[in-house]
Amino acid sequence: MSSSRDGFSSAFGVLAATLGSAVGLGNIWKFPYLTGSNGGAGFLLIYLLATLLVGLPVMIAEISIGRAARGDAVSAFERLRPGRGWGTIGVLGLLAALLIMAFYSEVAGWVFAYVAKAAAGDLLSSDPKLLSAAFSTLVADPASALMWQWIVLALVGGILSFGVSRGIEAVTKRLMPILFLLLVLICIRGLTLPGASAGLAFLFSPDFSKITPSVVLVAVGLAFFKLSIGMGTMVTYGSYFRAEQNIPMTAKRVMLADLTVSMLAGIAIFPAVFAFGFKPEAGPSLVFITIPAVFAGMPGGAFFMVAFFVLTAFAALGAMLSIVEVPVAVIAERFRIKRWKAALISVGVIGAVGSVAALSGSLTADWKLFGLNPFDLFDYVSSNILLPVGGILIALFVGASWGRAAWLRELSNDGALSNQALAGVLFVLVRWVSPLLIAVVMLKGLGVF
Ligand code: PHE
Repeated sequence: MSSSRDGFSSAFGVLAATLGSAVGLGNIWKFPYLTGSNGGAGFLLIYLLATLLVGLPVMIAEISIGRAARGDAVSAFERLRPGRGWGTIGVLGLLAALLIMAFYSEVAGWVFAYVAKAAAGDLLSSDPKLLSAAFSTLVADPASALMWQWIVLALVGGILSFGVSRGIEAVTKRLMPILFLLLVLICIRGLTLPGASAGLAFLFSPDFSKITPSVVLVAVGLAFFKLSIGMGTMVTYGSYFRAEQNIPMTAKRVMLADLTVSMLAGIAIFPAVFAFGFKPEAGPSLVFITIPAVFAGMPGGAFFMVAFFVLTAFAALGAMLSIVEVPVAVIAERFRIKRWKAALISVGVIGAVGSVAALSGSLTADWKLFGLNPFDLFDYVSSNILLPVGGILIALFVGASWGRAAWLRELSNDGALSNQALAGVLFVLVRWVSPLLIAVVMLKGLGVF
C-alpha cells in the first residue's frame, strides 16, 4: 500500500504485461500438441468452455485479490482475511511455479536452440524424418539441454532484477504485436498448402469419441495454464494494477487475445501437419518438427523461420517473467531482501529442479513415476492438479470468505464503474459453478470415481 511500491505505469502497460503472461509457449507449443494428441475439435470445444466458465471468473478473482491487498501471492490472502490459513494458496502456488518453470524453461531452451539452428540454415526441409531427427538429437544431448535451459534462466533472472515497470513491462509491450502479425502470415502460408483442408477439418469438426474424463481434465488444466491462473501469478500482477483499471474488462480482453493467438497457432500448424504427413499426435515435438516444414518451401522462408523462433522466445520470456515473479515477490517482500537476490535464489532453485526435467530426454529418462518421466510428470502435476486445486481454493476464498460485498466493491473500483449486474453473475460463477465444476472434472479425470 506504500506509494513506493513498484507497479505497472499505464493502462496499456497493464494490458501488455498481463497478456505477456498469458501468451507464451502455452499457445504456440502446448495448445497445438494437446489438441493434436487429444483428437482435435472436440478437445478444442471443451477447452473453450473451460476458459469461459472457469478460467475467466477465476482470473478476475485473482487479479482483484491482488489489487485489493497490494501484496504477493502469500500475503495477499492473509491481508484480506488474516489468521485463517488462506496464505496456503500462495504456498501451493510457489510449488506450482517451481514445477512449471522446471519444464517450461527447458521448452524455452529448445526454442532458443531452434533460433540458432534456423539461423544456421539447418532446418530448411519439409521431410518429417529429417526434422524429427533434428529435434531428437537436441533433446537427447544432456550438455545442450542443460546449457540452453541455463541461458534461459539467466535471462529471466536478469530481467526480473530490474523490477516490475522497467523490466517486465518494457520487454513485453513491444513484442506482442509483431508476434501476432507473424502468426497471421504463417496462417496464410499454411492455408495455401495443398491438403490444408484436412488440417482445418481436424481442428474444427469435433469427434467426441476421443473425449474421456481424463481428456476433459487436460482441457481444464490447459485453460488454467493458458490464463496463468491457479498459482498466484494473477494475484501478483493484480497487485501491480492501477487503482482505476477496469479488472473484468482487462481480463476479458486478455482472454480473447490469448484465444486468438492459440487459434492462429492451430491454423498455422495443423494444415501443415496434414499437408506434409506429420502425425498430429506427435506430442511435445509437434511444433518443433512442423513449423520448419511450413517455412521450408516459402519465399523468404529462412528469414521468417528465424523471426518466428525469436518471437516465440520472447513470448516465452514474458510468460516466464510472470511465473518467476511469484516467488521473487514473496521472497523480496516477506524477507525484505533486494529483488536481485530474490531473483537469484528463485532461479537457482528452479535450475536445480529444472535440470532433472531437462535431462528427461537422456540421463533421467528412466526416472519414472506413474509411468511419466520428470518432464511429463512436472507438467502433468502442475497443470492438471496444482493449478485446478489452486483455482478451487481461490474461488472458495472469494465466494465464502472475502465475500460478495467486498468483491463487488473491488470490481467496481469502489463504485466508480457501474458493473454490478456483471459482477453479480461473476460472483455466482465463482461461488458455485467454478469450484464444483473443477472438483468434478478433477475427481473424474483422476479416476477417483
Ligand atoms: N500462460 C503461460 C503460457 O501459456 C504459462 C503460465 C502458466 C504463465 C502459469 C504463468 C503462470 O505460456
